[in-house]
Amino acid sequence: MRLLVATTNLHKLSEIRAILTGIDVELQALDEWPDLAAPEETGATFGDNAREKALCYAGTTGRTTVADDSGLEIDGLQGEPGVHSARFNGETYPEKFQAIYARLGEAGQLGCPARFVCALAVARGTEVLFETQGTVEGRIAEAPAGEAGFGYDPIFFYPPYGKTLAEVSREEKAAVSHRGRAVRQLREWLETPNLLQSGQ
Ligand code: IMP
Repeated sequence: MRLLVATTNLHKLSEIRAILTGIDVELQALDEWPDLAAPEETGATFGDNAREKALCYAGTTGRTTVADDSGLEIDGLQGEPGVHSARFNGETYPEKFQAIYARLGEAGQLGCPARFVCALAVARGTEVLFETQGTVEGRIAEAPAGEAGFGYDPIFFYPPYGKTLAEVSREEKAAVSHRGRAVRQLREWLETPNLLQSGQ
């Protein structure tokens, strides 16, 4: 069985690949279709965007496609950046972090609770075959720390580890992360007999 992973983010791809290792699925990445335009991601929720992406790429490539939409919800910013995580406040992550700490400071919310959310959807043709969501609860770190991972990992403090998700290994992150949780549910679904057996 082949499954197209609809992401150009190599970190996400490697996190997903690591969790699906050992099952009978050949993962393909979008780089085989370099000219495909990305869908707009106009949904109000992570689930809406994951479905929209999966259906869009399944339609244009003819391949069974898994798409994810993920991001960070910060309680002290009323859930922002949420579905706007990739485009929030500035081009670079240090700029985004500065804006977040400034706003949290003004609101008296430094160190507030936050969570990463990852919605996954699998589509074939015009049909969504599977959907799931994973979350990980933590809080905004006192200051950015760590070099591993990507995106907002340096400001996401995970209390059970006593570290940010940028200070742990890929395996430690995958064991608890939103994407790890969602992809393990995908793995269970892929391992269920009878699904997708006629898929491309
Ligand atoms: P997407 O590619 O539209 O799903 O946007 C996801 C954005 O959310 C990324 O560009 C990151 O800014 C953020 N994000 C999602 N997952 C993670 C993660 O595991 N660590 C850090 N940031 C993440």
